[in-house]
Amino acid sequence: MDKNKTILVVGAGGFIGGHMVKRFIDNGNKVIASDIKPKEYWFQDFEKSNNYYATDMKDMSNCMKVAKGVDYVFNMACNMGGMGFIENNRAECMQSVLINTNLLIACKEHEIKKYFFSSSACAYNISKQQNTFIEGLKEEDAYPADPEDGYGWEKLFSERMCRHFMEDYGIEVRIARYHNIYGPYGTYDGGREKAPAALCRKIIDAKLNKKNKIDVWGDGEQTRTFLYIDDCLEGTLRLFESDYSKPVNIGSDEQVSINQMIDIIEDISGYKNLKKNYQLDKPKGVRGRSSNNDLIKKVLNWSYGIDLKNGLTRTYGWIESEMSRKGNNINRFTKS
Ligand code: GDD
Repeated sequence: MDKNKTILVVGAGGFIGGHMVKRFIDNGNKVIASDIKPKEYWFQDFEKSNNYYATDMKDMSNCMKVAKGVDYVFNMACNMGGMGFIENNRAECMQSVLINTNLLIACKEHEIKKYFFSSSACAYNISKQQNTFIEGLKEEDAYPADPEDGYGWEKLFSERMCRHFMEDYGIEVRIARYHNIYGPYGTYDGGREKAPAALCRKIIDAKLNKKNKIDVWGDGEQTRTFLYIDDCLEGTLRLFESDYSKPVNIGSDEQVSINQMIDIIEDISGYKNLKKNYQLDKPKGVRGRSSNNDLIKKVLNWSYGIDLKNGLTRTYGWIESEMSRKGNNINRFTKS
């Protein structure tokens, strides 16, 4: 990334956005950081960033104000979480369409030339995700459209809006479909956490409190591919610098069941053979999801580098230290 560029990161108080801001600051860029959350609730602090906005980008006038004078926009903002959140908050999730729409209009008005949109594997047609172990989803598998209800529809529609702003107004767009990104500074409790962080938390809690059982949503046979945050950032920045404007998967190809991931986390913890209380009435999402990475290898000549065991080891360590720092007093919004 050219360090002379001024970059607006929207969703800077969240997980991926927070890591992205840090990367840009370390690179020497001037960063404008914006999030709907008040600053004290942002997942990371950026003492060297001089421009913070705690503002709602669903409001057009805020987008116009914050985007003025920037070179690039990274839209990492949406109201989201793991299955526990998105299955139960479809209307909330869909309203993120306003952020993308307003930002694209602001880009047009301010003549900003390049825009990144963080889309999701939830954009894929659900009929292709009905079995446990599936072939990796290729980018064309998003159509015919039948994505995850609520959240997935918003992502697919917003991808499409990016495409038309490029075609009609010449704004260069880059679009990543993220496949379950995890790592330090992610949510691990409170209801929005995804499976890797949730299961690390449950196993740490069992170990600390000498429990012999954890709750698992579904029967544990459902599968996913998970990608560590550092690889997500690297893939995103390479995609942004490339000349490829259609949606691209950013994910791993290490497809595991939830039960297999639990085994890996138990290994990391050294606290093994936990019984599993399978909760079949909890949100499960699709039965099997996996990322096909042929396209990213072809257009970027790049592939992810951190395997699941390594990424989970780092994530487990961070969650464990957070839980002991907070005295096991779990609250996503408690910052200390
Ligand atoms: N969250 C969570 N918590 N999931 C659990 C748990 C638990 O304690 N136990 C088992 N699971 C199972 C869920 O039932 C689901 O079948 C699977 O683990 C994965 O759940 P999540 O990580 O919450 O979500 P996802 O993979 O279905 O979707 C996530 O990734 C998408 C990108 O691939 C979501 O975060 C989406 O918002 C995101 O776009």
